[in-house]
Formats: sequence, C-alpha cells, structure tokens
Amino acid sequence: MDYYIFRLFRLILVAIFIFQGSCYSDQAGGYGFLKDATLAPKVSHFDYIVIGGGTAGCALAATLSQNATVLVLERGGSPYDNPTATDIGNFANTLLNSTWSQLFISQDGVFNSRARVLGGGTVLNAGFYSRAEDDYVAEAGWERNEVEAAYEWVEKKVAFEPQVKGWQTAFRDALLEAGVAPYNGFTYGHIHGTKIGGTIFDRDGHRHTAADLLEYANQNTIVVYLHASVHKILFTTTKGTSRPKANGVIFRDRNGVFHTAQLAAAQNALINEVILSPQLLMLSGIGPAAHLAYHGVNPIILDHPMVGQGMGDNPMNPVFIPSPEPVEVSLVQAVGIPNFGSYIEGGSGLSVSISLTRAFFDGVLNLLNKEKLPTQSISNFLKSFNIRLNLKTKAGVIIQKVAGPISRDPKDLNNCVEGLSAIIKVIDSKGYSKYKYPGVTGRGLLNLILALPINLRPRHLTSTFDLKQYCIDTTMTIYHYHGGCQVGKVVDNDYKVLGVDALRVIDASTFLKSPGTNPQATIMMLGRYMGQKILRERADFLETEEEA
Ligand SMILES: Cc1cc2nc3c(=O)[nH]c(=O)nc-3n(C[C@H](O)[C@H](O)[C@H](O)COP(=O)(O)OP(=O)(O)OC[C@H]3O[C@@H](n4cnc5c(N)ncnc54)[C@H](O)[C@@H]3O)c2cc1C
Ligand SMILES: *[C@@H]1O[C@H](CO)[C@@H](O)[C@H](O)[C@H]1NC(C)=O
Ligand SMILES: *[C@@H]1O[C@H](CO)[C@@H](O)[C@H](O)[C@H]1NC(C)=O
Repeated sequence: MDYYIFRLFRLILVAIFIFQGSCYSDQAGGYGFLKDATLAPKVSHFDYIVIGGGTAGCALAATLSQNATVLVLERGGSPYDNPTATDIGNFANTLLNSTWSQLFISQDGVFNSRARVLGGGTVLNAGFYSRAEDDYVAEAGWERNEVEAAYEWVEKKVAFEPQVKGWQTAFRDALLEAGVAPYNGFTYGHIHGTKIGGTIFDRDGHRHTAADLLEYANQNTIVVYLHASVHKILFTTTKGTSRPKANGVIFRDRNGVFHTAQLAAAQNALINEVILSPQLLMLSGIGPAAHLAYHGVNPIILDHPMVGQGMGDNPMNPVFIPSPEPVEVSLVQAVGIPNFGSYIEGGSGLSVSISLTRAFFDGVLNLLNKEKLPTQSISNFLKSFNIRLNLKTKAGVIIQKVAGPISRDPKDLNNCVEGLSAIIKVIDSKGYSKYKYPGVTGRGLLNLILALPINLRPRHLTSTFDLKQYCIDTTMTIYHYHGGCQVGKVVDNDYKVLGVDALRVIDASTFLKSPGTNPQATIMMLGRYMGQKILRERADFLETEEEA
C-alpha cells in the first residue's frame, strides 16, 4: 500500500484510540487504554506489538510508549476487576482459581502454574522482591548503571519494605542461630547471610503488580487489549534476501473473532518490531523443523533447533511446621542466603479453603535449590495444552515453560541436603521454639512429612533417615521456570531472535539461569532496560534516515 495512505490510516487509528480512551477513562485501574479485544478493529497498525502483558511485557510496553505507538495483547483479563483477590490473604485461593492461573503439569509430574492475566506472574506470585547478584548482571553483559536505574524505576511503583511480625522475626532469628550469617537487615540486594527482602505487597497487604507499571505509559500512544489470545506471528521476507521478517500478529477475542495487528509501515518499517513475551515462536513456525512438521505447524518459517531447549527451574523442597500459637499471614520476607548454593525462604498462616490442610500451612520453610538446568529435549514439552486457543495444528502444540525433571545430579542433591540440614537447625533453634509444638524436632518433622498418606514412603520410617531421598521425594516447583528462548541460542545479546528480523523475545524464557533468589525484580527490570535500549536505537535510526 502507498506510504501516504498508510500514514493517514495510522493517524486516523491513533485518533480513534484517543477518543475511545476518553470514553473509558474512569475504568478500574484508572487506565483509559485497557480495552476488551472485542473492541479491536479488524486490522490495526503500531510501531511495536508486545505479546503478553506480563511481568516483563508491562514494563517494556510502558517504556516504549514514551516515544512510539505500542499495542499490548494479553490473553487474560484485568487484575483491577477484582482487586481484593490479589490481597495477601487470598494468595492460595487465587493461585488455585483457574481464571487467572492456568494449571499445568510437566511431563515429570511437577504441578505448575502459568499466569493468564494482565500483570502476569506478579498477580499470582508470593511477592518477594529481590534483585539479581552482581555477577549475574556482569555475566548477562548488561550495563550496570542502566540496570540500577531500571531497578529503581520498577521499585518506585511496586516494591515495599515489609512489616516484619512475629513468625518472620522468629524465622529470621532462627536462620542466624543456624549459622546463616551475617544479618544484612532490609535490602533488595542479593548478599550472603540473612536479610529481609522487598515485597510487592504494601503495608495493608495489597498487591502491586507489573500492571501498575503501566501508570508510566503514555496514554496517547499505548493500547492494551485484554482477552486477546495471540495465535501466530505473521512474516514477510526481508527485501532482497530470504530472511523472514515479522510484520504482524493474528489474535482472537473472547467471542472467537480474529483480528490482525500489523507493524506500521512507512519510513519506520525497518525499526518496528514484534516483541514476544510468551513463547509463540513454535506456533508461528520457528523451531526445530521436524518437531514442527510432526505437529502440523505450517508453514515452517525457520528451522531453529534451540527453540524450547535449556529450560530449568529452582526446584523447591517444602517443610510444613504446625504451630501451637496463632501465626500471622506472611509470604516471603526473611530469607537465608548461605554460601553453599541453596536459599531458605518461609511463609506463614496461609489458609486454603480445604480445612484439613490448614494446620500444615502454619509455617512453611522452603528450600530453594540453586541452579539446575537440565538439558531438556523438545519431547519434554507438553503436547496438548488448553490455552483456550482453537489451534489448527494437529495436537495444539505450544511451547510451555516447564519445570525440569527432578534432579538427581550429585551436586544438586548435596546442595539440597546441606540446605535441609540448615532447616533442621532452624526448626531446632531457640528463636523458632514458640512456633512449634514442644518435643517436635526438625528430623522428626521431616520423617512425619514423608509418612503422610499422599507421600507414603515406608522406608523413611526406618531409623536410617535419608535426606537425599527427602530431596528427591518432595521436590516441587517454586515457579521460577525459565529458558526455552535462551540468549546466545535462540536470541542474540539484544534479545533479537536469531535468523529473523523485527522479532525479539524479552522475558524469563531468555534466562540462562534464575537471577538472585527470586526472578520478578530482574524480569521487570529487563523490560524497562530493553525498552530504553530499543528507544535509543529507534531515535538513532530515525536520525540517520533523516540525514540520508
Ligand atoms: C505461585 C508463584 C509464586 C512465585 N513467587 C515469586 C516470588 O515470590 N518472587 C519472585 O520474584 N518471583 C516469584 N514467582 C515467579 C515470577 O512471578 C515469574 O517468574 C514471572 O512473573 C515470569 O514473568 P514473565 O514475564 O516471564 O512471564 P509472565 O509474567 O507469566 O507473562 C506472560 C504473559 O503472557 C500472556 N500470554 C501468554 N500467552 C499468550 C498469548 N498467546 N496471547 C496473549 N497473551 C499471552 C500471559 O497471560 C501472561 O500475562 C512466582 C511465580 C508463581 C506462579
Ligand atoms: C475466580 O477468580 C475470578 C476473578 O478474580 C472471580 O471473579 C471468581 O469469582 C473466582 N472464583 C472463585 C470460585 O473464587
Ligand atoms: C524520542 O524520539 C526523538 C526523535 O526521534 C528523540 O530525539 C528523543 O531522544 C527520543 N526520546 C526518548 C526518550 O527516547
């Protein structure tokens, strides 16, 4: 189409969006730009299309909107529709409610959840906010000052110092008694010893999510469609080569109507991009060719054997401690960062509506095992998965973020055993004594847990108590799954998909390992960091174009 017609078309569209914006301006969340996808035009044009309004996606889109037109397509609804659901006391129920939380089970049998709501995982998670270690930032090749500024940008909106009450104080003291020292006080930093970290829950227990970062967005240049499930990315061929170039996406609203969003053409065509938050690459024809062909993905745009490889998680081993005292509701606040490579976090007073389990949720000590990245083959991805898409592919294949298999790697097991030994010391400490029944010992409790009907393993009732076996038997996810679109394998250092133009992946799937104790701070930071970088590239590009 002619350049000028395109331009005009875009102006009209922008005008329509501003108009619609003013109609919806007193919608919950305060954003005029949140709209249901049923209101989307058949075809629209933007400089950037961000797929997934998740943890990284919201930070990225808010930033890009400062100097470009941005469309966010989010398959879920708005967390502002039911603000109390995200309060701290509703953590477990909201995680179990399938409206915003999509259960999936990895092929290894690990139960896991995937967010389906604006704000992504920050709407469902335990809220602990903690930055990456300095080495992580250095290894990622990120610019240190930019990283610092991006963390601060995030923290201004969503991070808080928690109010530390009885149980968390006892747990903190117990960690110190168990030798996880020194005490580093309250800090967002990742430092060896025991600390109080940040949280996205404010003092009143209200959760602040990545969706709050959209307060930074330019109302006039951003549109967020909710209940917009992206089906595939569209490609053309880059002029003069056979290199595929992303130029738009197809998404479906909740009435089943399909819409197209395209990258705005005109002189910006070379710099505009689709930015993928979820892993739609395979469905769009980019991935291991044989695998795609087997599942009927057609056409195959690019054979990319590394898509879907290298997924991992921080496996977790929980220890539940019934308390004789009432305990406050708390998610993660105090955390132990020992120097052998596991982390110890805890929560308390979490009740779920299943009354029988209540007692066991009084105190939960979670042992997070540091890095474990199994080389996972494509066959480990779930083959059919209901993401409410009517996929035309044979088995509805979509890449899933999956917790890795339970590791029996001796190094991982040793880390876990060392961590459990520290947890036993925590439970047996003077500091913790108020929150356990008299006579209960760490070892006794671990034995008891293994003897529960759900996990009846008679061998643990023998006198030879095996911490290694406990590690293997009780491993679950802490939901820090990452990988599948790793830097250096699927995307380059600028998060551009290798072998394709105008397409980036910016989210946890690009990570080689999980940052710090918990990833959300760094995922939001990355959205901001890359948004700034993309805007600088854009300004440079447009300047050069003008000179030419
Ligand atoms: C129960 C739980 C507890 C956790 N606790 C903590 C914690 O205490 N601290 C911490 O730091 N981290 C925690 N995490 C991890 C952290 O929340 C996640 O790692 C992080 O949110 C992932 O961010 P992301 O941007 O990669 O993906 P997400 O935030 O999941 O974003 C992906 C978005 O894309 C959307 N989407 C997917 N497919 C499509 C499609 N086809 N079309 C349109 N939209 C689509 C999804 O709906 C979602 O909104 C926890 C996670 C969970 C689930
Ligand atoms: C599940 O969550 C949605 C959205 O917050 C809410 O409307 C619905 O009532 C919840 N369902 C249950 C059974 O709690
Ligand atoms: C916005 O774009 C203009 C023109 O390209 C450029 O001069 C300016 O530096 C950009 N600002 C930001 C914040 O990127």
